[in-house]
Amino acid sequence: MKAKILELLRKRQDFVSGQELCTILNVSRTAVWKAIRSLESEGYVIEAVRNRGYRLVEDGSDAASYDIYSANEIKSRLEEASGVREVLFFDSIDSTNTECARRASSGAGSGLLIASDNQTAGRGRRGRNWTSPSGSNIYFSYMFRPDVSPSDAPMLTLLMSLSVCMAMEKILEGRIYRTSGRKRSEKRNEMAPMIKWPNDIVIDGKKCCGMLTEMNCESDYIGYVVIGVGINVRHQKFPKEIKATAITLEDAWKKPVPRSLLTAEILNIFGPMAKRFEEEKNLGFIRREYYDRLVNAGRKVRVLDPKGEYDGIARGINETGELLVETDDGKIKEVNSGEVSVRGIYGYV
Ligand code: BTN
Repeated sequence: MKAKILELLRKRQDFVSGQELCTILNVSRTAVWKAIRSLESEGYVIEAVRNRGYRLVEDGSDAASYDIYSANEIKSRLEEASGVREVLFFDSIDSTNTECARRASSGAGSGLLIASDNQTAGRGRRGRNWTSPSGSNIYFSYMFRPDVSPSDAPMLTLLMSLSVCMAMEKILEGRIYRTSGRKRSEKRNEMAPMIKWPNDIVIDGKKCCGMLTEMNCESDYIGYVVIGVGINVRHQKFPKEIKATAITLEDAWKKPVPRSLLTAEILNIFGPMAKRFEEEKNLGFIRREYYDRLVNAGRKVRVLDPKGEYDGIARGINETGELLVETDDGKIKEVNSGEVSVRGIYGYV
């Protein structure tokens, strides 16, 4: 109910009478009043005026309320099309990916979003740790049961990286980013997020977000997929191993980034794209959008293939998410992320 009240007050941007809230939510006045008091105790500023009702004050004057990271705040920002059916929030957990898998194994339904302020055993790719201090970052995992074959699942991570990138653009630019028709020659903000294939997000050549996708499947059937996303948001001291290649959104953009809003926006973008992917079973419909954000697009990359390294120019992705690399002889190689990694020839990107 609290998420719905937030959504209603936010949409109206003016007073909503207690009676109207009661009617819409089908609850008593006392229940509405209690929910409002509880929201205030979570940090929201809500003006209550006799004969007018309640108004949510979100004018930026209250620093404490701009980054309320909670299940209700995320829910109040989610759209139906996100596909998210349940949101759970923890102050601390071992790993949101692990918790999603635990719940999926005990029968949780598709569309479960788990976010946490802190992780005590955050996991990265290739068995690495993901350092997860509290009060600074976004850690969430999304569990769903898509109707695609297990071999197609890696493509879902590319969809998530595009969703994260687009949602970040929306926050950075304070508007919905124009999602088509931009020519590569158009100047973009040099602090804009970009995708380092297959799914890291970088700003100014440094990583601000990583993703870890795990799944449970039979040979031809997916039980569930968990996509975990970690985003560096607030200024922090990074461990020395990643210090030179990591960046936070707020350090890059010099503006506050509300974690719940960004989390919800990512899922609002991902939901419809994942639905389309389930129908079309290929990534043809995002190729242009992905190319526009590919940090190495048109640039020289080094392909670290165990069978032999080689250089080439990155030319975007194909319909199955492989990176297209044009070699010196003009041939196009299709690089699979499961087998090789790609570096810019001058360093991380
Ligand atoms: C990477 O190595 O780049 C992937 C990092 C993924 C980290 C996220 S944080 C939320 C979720 N829970 C985890 O334990 N890992 C992922």
